[in-house]
Amino acid sequence: MNFLKTINPYRNIIDRLKNGKSVHREELRMLLETEDNEILEYLRQCADDVRRKIYGNAIYIRGLIEFTNYCKNDCYYCGIRRSNQNAERYRLTGKEILDCCKMGYKLGFRTFVLQGGEDNYYSQEHICDIIKSIRKEFPDCAITMSIGEKTRDFYEAMYEVGANRYLLRHETANEKHYKKLHPKELSLENRKACLFTLKEIGYQVGCGFMVGSPWQTTDTLLDDLEFIQKLQPHMVGIGPFIPHKDTPFGNRQQGSLEMTLRLLSIIRLMNPHVLLPATTALGTIHPTGREQGILWGANVVMPNLSPADVRKKYLLYNNKICTGDEAAECRSCLEKRMQSIGYHIVVDRGDYR
Ligand code: 5AD
Ligand code: FES
Repeated sequence: MNFLKTINPYRNIIDRLKNGKSVHREELRMLLETEDNEILEYLRQCADDVRRKIYGNAIYIRGLIEFTNYCKNDCYYCGIRRSNQNAERYRLTGKEILDCCKMGYKLGFRTFVLQGGEDNYYSQEHICDIIKSIRKEFPDCAITMSIGEKTRDFYEAMYEVGANRYLLRHETANEKHYKKLHPKELSLENRKACLFTLKEIGYQVGCGFMVGSPWQTTDTLLDDLEFIQKLQPHMVGIGPFIPHKDTPFGNRQQGSLEMTLRLLSIIRLMNPHVLLPATTALGTIHPTGREQGILWGANVVMPNLSPADVRKKYLLYNNKICTGDEAAECRSCLEKRMQSIGYHIVVDRGDYR
C-alpha cells in the first residue's frame, strides 16, 4: 500500500511543485481539475507548510483607501464602470486620504494602498502631491498605488516621490478571454506591458485575477499561472468573481470558494515567497472565507480604511462585507479571526522576503 501511495501521480506533482521542480501544463491541469478531496487536503497542507517556513504564522495587513469610485473604463464585470448610472460617485481630497493614513497608522498599519477607479480628475501632479504628503508624514511606511493603466512617465513620477508598490490585476492572461470581459478600447497587451514597466521601474508589483469570471476555463487559468511565472510578481491578488446587478454580468454565476482556495495553494507552491491576500471578495462569498484563504496559503489581509460614509459606494460587486464597519472594528475583528486559526497580525510593512 505504501508503494501505491508513493506513486500517486497527484501527490508526485504536488511534491515536485513544493520542491521547486518544474511542472508541466498538463500536470497543473490535473491539479485544477481533480475532485479528490484527499489530494486537495494534501495540496493545502503543503501550501500551508511552505508559507509557514518563510513567514511563520505572521499575517500582514494593508490599509486599503478607496479614494475615488469615478472610472473612465467600462469593464463588464465591475460595479463602478462608467456606464453604471446607479453608482453614487465620490472622491476623497488629499487631506481626507492623509487622515485615513493617520488613523491607520495608530491602528498598526504600515502599508497604505491607495486604490481607485481610473479617474483623470487626479492629475499626475495631484497624485504626486498626495504621495509626497504621505511619504513625509510616514517615512517608515510602504505606499502602494492601485489606480490602473498609466504612462511610464506617470509611473516613474510616482515612484520618485515615494510610492513603492503597485497593484494591477491582469484579470486574465488569455487574449480571447480578456476581450470578453472588457470593451474594445482595453487590451491585454497594454495591461501586461504596464506590469513589466512597473517592475522595471523598481516597484514591488502585484498582478491577479478573478476566479470564476464568465468564460473562464481550465485553459485560461493555466494561462494565468504561466503569466505569473513569467512576470514573477511580488504579490498575486485573487478572489472570486461576484456579480454586480447593475453590470452586463449581473446574472452570471459567482466564482467558487473551492476553486479560489485551490488556486491560492497552487500559487503559493509555485511562488513560495509571494504575498497572497485573502481578499474581501473571498470573505464575501463565505463567512470564514478569509480564514480559509489563510489556511490554504494566503498571508495578507487588506481591511478598509476609507471613511465610513463612502464605504457603501465603492461597490465592485454586490453584498460586499465590512461596508458598515469602522476601520478600528475591522482591525480588531481580523485580529480575532486570525487568532482563531492560530495566526497573528503583525505591525510591519510586510515586504516581500
Ligand atoms: N467581482 C469580484 N472582483 C471584482 N473586481 C472587479 N469587479 C469584480 C467583481 N464583480 C476586481 C478586479 C479588479 C479589483 C480591484 O477588483 O479584479 O482588478
Ligand atoms: Fe471588517 Fe470583520 S474585518 S468587520
